[in-house]
Amino acid sequence: MGTQNWQKLLMPYHQAVDELLLKINQLKDQSIQMGKISPIESVVGRVKSISSILEKINKYGFPMEDLEDKIMDIGGIRIICQFIEDIYQVANMFYDRNGKDLTVVKIKNYLEGIDQSHFKSGLGVPKASGYQSYHIIIRYPVFTSFGYREVLMEIQIRTLAMNFWAIIEHSLNYKYKGKLPENIKERLTNTALTVGQLDHEMSIIRDEILAAQKLFKMKSGTVNDILDNINNLHKLHQDQKAIDFENEFENLSEKEDLIQLILLKKELQAEVGQIKDSV
Ligand code: GTP
Ligand code: MG
Repeated sequence: MGTQNWQKLLMPYHQAVDELLLKINQLKDQSIQMGKISPIESVVGRVKSISSILEKINKYGFPMEDLEDKIMDIGGIRIICQFIEDIYQVANMFYDRNGKDLTVVKIKNYLEGIDQSHFKSGLGVPKASGYQSYHIIIRYPVFTSFGYREVLMEIQIRTLAMNFWAIIEHSLNYKYKGKLPENIKERLTNTALTVGQLDHEMSIIRDEILAAQKLFKMKSGTVNDILDNINNLHKLHQDQKAIDFENEFENLSEKEDLIQLILLKKELQAEVGQIKDSV
């Protein structure tokens, strides 16, 4: 196949990579704009080089005409997350788009030792190498200057730790041409377990961060409610009561006791309700 034909073949893949990167980056930026923590840490994309495509054709012995059906990672997107839970969120975002701007064709779930119940589809089948990642093969439509095309794209979703491992293992495999010495293989299997433990530990920390954020939200909501109702008491000409509540509020604020603050909020709500009813 000549260079021009290769260019024409790869063009829709370049377009699909560009479009998907734009869409995924939008999701990431919108989360941040809304003050939420984005499940996406970073995203990269690439089109496989002609030499890698030829290598794969030779390795598996595909006929040239089957190339686009057999090689599912000519176009690839890699999404890196901080935490395991983020992988579920990102994977589920793709299922939610299924039948809209893309079609989910295949799931390759190489995750193990983690709770799989959050995924909308696909049970984990671990890889012997220790490789951990969640792959979704999608069919993606593009409108090129040559007309409508649908291309297969491989979406890889993994944590920072999983990515670190995969990059190192890939480089070593490249160095040893796929024939890793036993001692290195063993070390890689051990480090894969460490990656699993690291991700697990980080998940526990993440839960604590989220719990702290929730508590902060609850506290600020309670304080706002209390201040609003003290203001209401003033408006209802109950200045002495308002001052009493203000003093109590200041006392509790110093102690940082959320439960007492919530009780004070309820007491104030009842007080204001009663006065309003009697007016
Ligand atoms: P190829 O492995 O690409 O021939 O395709 P496949 O049909 O066997 O699919 P598979 O899901 O095994 O691999 C898809 C992609 O995942 C690969 O191209 C790699 O990027 C990545 N991958 C799969 N297994 C490993 C692994 O053991 N180590 C590393 N570092 N990457 C892997
Ligand atoms: Mg493979």
